[in-house]
Amino acid sequence: MKKIQVKASKNYPVIIDSNLLNDSGNFIKETVSPLPAKVAVFCDDKVEPLYADKVEKSLKSSGFETFRFIFKNGEAQKHMGTITQMIEFLAQNDFTRKDLAVALGGGVTGDMTGFSAAIFKRGIRFVQIPTTLLAMVDSSVGGKTGCNLSSGKNLAGAFYQPELVICDTNCLETLSEKDFACGIAEAVKTAVIQDAELFEFFRKRITNKDSETLKQIIGKCVEIKANVVAQDEKEGGLRQILNFGHTLGHAIEKLSNYEITHGEAVSIGMAAITKAFVKLNKVNPALYDELISVLETNNLPVKHSYTKYELFTAALSDKKRNADSITVVYSPELGRAELLPMKLNDFENLISAAF
Ligand SMILES: NC(=O)c1ccc[n+]([C@@H]2O[C@H](COP(=O)([O-])OP(=O)(O)OC[C@H]3O[C@@H](n4cnc5c(N)ncnc54)[C@H](O)[C@@H]3O)[C@@H](O)[C@H]2O)c1
Repeated sequence: MKKIQVKASKNYPVIIDSNLLNDSGNFIKETVSPLPAKVAVFCDDKVEPLYADKVEKSLKSSGFETFRFIFKNGEAQKHMGTITQMIEFLAQNDFTRKDLAVALGGGVTGDMTGFSAAIFKRGIRFVQIPTTLLAMVDSSVGGKTGCNLSSGKNLAGAFYQPELVICDTNCLETLSEKDFACGIAEAVKTAVIQDAELFEFFRKRITNKDSETLKQIIGKCVEIKANVVAQDEKEGGLRQILNFGHTLGHAIEKLSNYEITHGEAVSIGMAAITKAFVKLNKVNPALYDELISVLETNNLPVKHSYTKYELFTAALSDKKRNADSITVVYSPELGRAELLPMKLNDFENLISAAF
């Protein structure tokens, strides 16, 4: 079992291995102190029939009283209406600040459960049990929680760290090819911005059967994210590099009404921003070709059908935008990222260069 310690405003372990769900109750008992009495498991309706019984059985045998809240799967549910239902559920079941929420699922479940935990009674503790590759390599670690507003992606939220993250790689066996590829997109992002060696893994197609390789990939991505978060938890500077591909990605997700998933949009966003920087002579065309090849090899999209105007307008609702400027992330060479603040009219020209 690999264990990585995240050192932020709260220190917590991320454990990575196969067959961890059956012991999730024990891991929680060993880590969460003082012990909660009640545990609420939050999951969507696709994950629930697959893994909720297993987790609840383990929690019960560790002595916890368990509760289960199920919501419809998908990004379209990631809004304040679902958050309200989640925190009402905690209130109706008389949860106190000593009790615990568990996010069992992908990034949507993790982000919303974390946000609910952050605001219910001004904060109850929560544990992440990610079941998608995307959530294991990225969203379950680092404490960004939240939901979408009609104006844009993740516009409501809180920085709120979990007590523990349990990555059971067996969960990846039931992921669809498309959802699996979305996790690869975030892992490729991590490689491009921080680790050229990690990038090598993706030159051949990774599948959800490659369990030993996946453990290594997840371990590397979590180490990198933990290191960035330890230096800049609240995204004042360095942490913004993790948004490589995301400014345009979020815009594409929103424009598609979330038909294009987060991972797919990040893939298209990385391709588009890299193409734009090649045109500005800040990135070598060879890097762009390598990126496209790796993304396509791993079944990820690299093109979209939106206009410059649509993309620019949608990108303006990005959280990272200031009144008249926006910070753009690009990679001048594999394994390294730069932050470039730019005026909005320069950003508009940059988007034009991506076409
Ligand atoms: N907090 C962060 O730092 C951070 C970072 C990156 C992305 N995100 C967020 O994460 C979300 C995307 O995450 P995601 O791709 O995991 O989406 P998701 O949670 O919607 O999961 C994708 C699909 O996979 C299904 N699923 C989950 N686990 C499964 C399993 N083991 N087997 C079969 N099906 C399973 C889900 O029901 C869903 O239909 C976005 O909302 C994005 O904004 C957050």
